[in-house]
Amino acid sequence: MKKGCFITFEGADGCGKTTQSKLVQEYLEKSGYEVIWTREPGAKGLGQKIRELLLHYDGDVAPMCEAFLFLADRAQHIEHLIKPAVNAGKIVICDRHTDSTIAYQGYGRGEDIQQLKYLNNLATGDIKPDLTFVFDVSTEVAQKRVGSEKDRMESAGLEFHKKVRQGYLEIARHEPERVKVIDANNDIDKVFEDTKKVLQSFLDLI
Ligand code: TMP
Repeated sequence: MKKGCFITFEGADGCGKTTQSKLVQEYLEKSGYEVIWTREPGAKGLGQKIRELLLHYDGDVAPMCEAFLFLADRAQHIEHLIKPAVNAGKIVICDRHTDSTIAYQGYGRGEDIQQLKYLNNLATGDIKPDLTFVFDVSTEVAQKRVGSEKDRMESAGLEFHKKVRQGYLEIARHEPERVKVIDANNDIDKVFEDTKKVLQSFLDLI
């Protein structure tokens, strides 16, 4: 592999993507790859401050203000971490990225999806995910996994999270080459086995 690559992990809150992204990191490192694990929002520095606002600010937040804060975090993250790491030949694993904005602010909040895609492109420039996993689980199960201590986004309600889930499935239908849906209703080991199969066929091609 001459150039690095960029793999994103997506899904509604409680889908188990963070656990799977860490298992994939461990698996890739054991296989000899240089891997960077990161997340959005709030990988480091300024991003962490934006994350705090997004998840814990307790006043009203206009939907487009919310979108721009996620996008601001993304622009900083791409420039300071993702782009340099991919260009240095590393595999970057990112827990949430552009598809979260389409699923949450687009399908969830109802903001214009074409506009959000345009803004995502402005924030990311020429770096796009090479592979995206969407962990799909029923909204009821996902909400149970989240538990009772919810942040601002997790508190948005069952109907909102159902729209987010459908949004992800819609994204996957539009881009089946890049976006792979994994059934995340199963236990962690089975989900990881399914994830590894997709990962391996991707790695065989690059
Ligand atoms: P997480 O780090 O626990 O996944 O929490 C991040 C929350 O932010 C989660 O509820 C999804 C939400 N989110 C958006 O609404 N839009 C975005 O663009 C991103 C990256 C996250």
